[in-house]
Amino acid sequence: MQRAAALGLGIFADEKELDGDAAEIDRVSGGVLHDLISRGDFTGKDGEQTVLYLPRGAPAKRLILVGLGDSPAFTLDKVREASARMIRKAADLKLPTLALGIPGLRRLVAPSRDVAQAAAEGVILGSYRFDQLKSSAAKNGRVLPQVTCVWEEEETLPSLQRGLEAGRKIAAAVCLARDLIMQPAGQLTPKMLAATARQTARTFGMRCTILGLPQLRRLAMGALLGVAQGSSEPPTFSILEHAGGMPEDPPVVVVGKGITFDSGGISLKSAANMEKMKYDMSGAAATLAILRAVADLALPINVVGLMPAAENLPGGGACKPGDILRAMAGTTIEVINTDAEGRLILADALCYAQRFKPAAIIDLATLTGACRIAVGPLAIAMMGTNQALLRRFEEAAPIVGERVWQLPLWEEDFDLIKSHVADMKNSGGAPAGTITAGLFLKQFVGAHPWVHLDIASTAWVDTGRPYVPKGAAGVGVRLVVQVLRQWAANPSRALEQVRAASS
Ligand code: BES
Ligand code: MN
Ligand code: ZN
Repeated sequence: MQRAAALGLGIFADEKELDGDAAEIDRVSGGVLHDLISRGDFTGKDGEQTVLYLPRGAPAKRLILVGLGDSPAFTLDKVREASARMIRKAADLKLPTLALGIPGLRRLVAPSRDVAQAAAEGVILGSYRFDQLKSSAAKNGRVLPQVTCVWEEEETLPSLQRGLEAGRKIAAAVCLARDLIMQPAGQLTPKMLAATARQTARTFGMRCTILGLPQLRRLAMGALLGVAQGSSEPPTFSILEHAGGMPEDPPVVVVGKGITFDSGGISLKSAANMEKMKYDMSGAAATLAILRAVADLALPINVVGLMPAAENLPGGGACKPGDILRAMAGTTIEVINTDAEGRLILADALCYAQRFKPAAIIDLATLTGACRIAVGPLAIAMMGTNQALLRRFEEAAPIVGERVWQLPLWEEDFDLIKSHVADMKNSGGAPAGTITAGLFLKQFVGAHPWVHLDIASTAWVDTGRPYVPKGAAGVGVRLVVQVLRQWAANPSRALEQVRAASS
């Protein structure tokens, strides 16, 4: 083991015998761990934390002990949390180096590669902070410790390395999403979002197309244009293409809502918490991050990312309640409430998605306030019509620790958004608010397998968790990347399954 300023070690509550690094530390330190645990000063319960000094000659100067709880209840998410706790402690202590004993690696809850991936994610996501807009004095010289993982068994090293590498790439993508979301709307305009998409495409070898006002007019994206017309910032529509499969393979298309600021428009929101509405582009940020991760991981499938972006402002040219917009699909929409703008820009993006003859369409959007009422801060509200596709999300969710909860798309509820003067209304009011938004979107996906993820209640975190600090969560990135990795593991089977389910 290398000398480090600290060694991070996880201890289970039901651990009777110290093993591995813990046993080694105990031996060289004259039984300090054994004493600590046997006297009950450290019980190993979930989240418990202690820092010890080790005698000279020990492989590290300090020991950061983190409780892992009972081993039967241990999961990959606890690996992330414990790793995050270790790095955060080391960072708080301003240590230059941390040797990380990957939490729970000896009690395999999953293949060692996946445990290593989770540890890398926990370390990177746990140490995330958005401090680029603070003065250097306020940053207080925060430097992150260098992390090395310690593991003695040669045979498993290659798989650990592969896991760490995947975790690093995925977590870096999540951090990109977080950075974009945290950026104030004055900074991150639709144009800036497009510029970031272009830059990301260049770095990771993707095709990038940016549609501006003239192209959006030519495409007759009346719904997106209607939302954008209240702002002097023009809308953008960014398209990223990762060509990892054969040219003829149908792609998975990911669509993300990119409202860089949602004031509500003429149906103005109240002042309380309006500053947070910079996060209304969390779906687009996730989409960009997903494409980055997919390209970085070189997944052998085709994936397209669509990011319609606009500001929702009450300018002199703004769309008014009662106005009727004609979407690209030809559908006419009566605007009841200009604050229900997300579904409008998604209507045109989902219609555009069909051009790719997609194997599946996945959209992510901070779509409804009702989402918080329906499922609360823990879960993404998920809707869709293709049970095989929905199942893939339900399987991916516990692996990445991002919960999904399915809501129904009952056709009878569509009555709530029927219009007297147009094909439909953009708002059905409070009842079934999340569902009617989903039903609205459903009109624009054709017969394609489709999943809608309403991330309005999960995209912003008010009380931080170990690896999700307060602020932008970057939610949905790891979930969709996991679904796509699973998809890429056997694309023809995936295609067959969703096609069978959509008949
Ligand atoms: N971006 C909001 C939804 C939202 C609200 C996200 C709070 C995160 C936190 C969306 O554009 C919106 O305003 N929806 C309206 C729809 C209503 C007018 C039908 C809502 O939920 O109030
Ligand atoms: Mn709104
Ligand atoms: Zn919105």
